[in-house]
This record gives sequence, C-alpha cells and structure tokens, in this order.
Amino acid sequence: MRAPLKDLMEDVLRSAPVAPADRDLVAALGSRCIVLIGMMGAGKSSVGRRLATRLGLPFVDADTEIEAAAGMSIPDIFETHGEPAFRSGEARVIGRLLQIGPQVLATGGGAYMREETRAAVRERGLSVWLKADLDVLMRRIRRRSDRPLLQTDDPGATLRRLIDERDPVYRQADLTIESREVPHGTIVDEILAALRTRFAVPLRSRDAPPPMEFRS
Ligand code: S3P
Repeated sequence: MRAPLKDLMEDVLRSAPVAPADRDLVAALGSRCIVLIGMMGAGKSSVGRRLATRLGLPFVDADTEIEAAAGMSIPDIFETHGEPAFRSGEARVIGRLLQIGPQVLATGGGAYMREETRAAVRERGLSVWLKADLDVLMRRIRRRSDRPLLQTDDPGATLRRLIDERDPVYRQADLTIESREVPHGTIVDEILAALRTRFAVPLRSRDAPPPMEFRS
C-alpha cells in the first residue's frame, strides 16, 4: 500500500511548478549535473529524487544504470566478476551519464574514490557530499542486506573503516551537507540554499515570505 501512495505523491510533486528562485538555480547550473556523493545509507537516492523534483530536473541513480547496463544486480556483478570489474564499469557508466546534461545524479558510495570519476565530476558537475555519522548510517543500512561490501562478520567495523578511508576524499566535494535524521525535505532545502549561495542566486520576493510590516 505504501509504494503506490508514495508514487502518487511524487507525481503530484513532479507536476508542481518549479519556484522562480529554483528556476534561476537551474539556469545557473547550465549543462552541469548535481552529483550526490557519500557513504551507503547517506540518503543520496531519496534526497536526490526529491531534489530533482524540486528543480524540475531528471533524477538518475548510477547504481540502477550500472545494473541495467550489466543486465544483472550489483551483488551478482560483485560475485560473478569481482569488485575491480564493477568499479571500472561504474566509472564508465558515470562518465557517460555526466555527458547527458543537467540532472541530479546519485552515485554509489565508492564511485567518487576513483580519480578519473572525480575529474569527470569536476568538469561536468557540481558535487554535493551527504555526510552522515556512523550511527545514522548503521541504523539505515540495517534496513537493506544487498550491499556486497557489508557482507562481513562485523558490518559496523567495516563501515567505520570505509568512513575513515573515504571521508578525506569525499571532503573534496564542492558542497557538504550533514545528512541526519530529519525529513528529506529539510536536507533538500539545505542543498538548495547552499547552491544559491554558491551561484549567488538570490531568493526572489515571490519565494520568500512577505516581510513583516511595522507601523510607527
Ligand atoms: C558501494 C555502494 C553501493 C553500490 C555498491 C558499492 C560502495 O551504492 O554502488 O554496493 O562501495 O560504497 P550505495 O552507496 O547507493 O548504497
């Protein structure tokens, strides 16, 4: 029952007009993609989908595209071909997606670790790191068991090690937003505010609440 209602809500939101300030942001973005990076469980896909809706842009999930290109699931790619083959396929698919033009692109947690992908993102996109701490990630990854890297005896320790390895690299992103237990819409608002600052796009008066009037 939950999925159809969620789909219906997304359709309603998708058909909602894009606010003028958000249209200005899309114009400032030009042909660049907004690329969401960060650990598994950071919320890249759920936040990305909503961000795309707000901006009236397409949303693309790199993992889904990799699965479509390979004709098999990510766990099956890891099992059949191994991680190195997955990583080179991932870099190729992301390179191709970045050429498509303005869109919101959610990448898999390891994608940004590859220099070639970071260079392509720098050239064709604007990167947003959704930074989440271990507790938040642990709570979220428990809901899914299909992540090959976490099929270990101690997924918490694996996640800790990956955070330690990856955070210094994720830090190179253009923008960093704290992903935490708040509604996805709050994170989307924070990304939009950070993008407006980055591109010096002001909120237009029609987007902002009317100023309070004081009579003397
Ligand atoms: C990975 C994250 C996954 C997926 C693959 C490897 C990683 O994507 O690409 O299992 O290396 O962190 P999500 O970050 O979308 O879970």
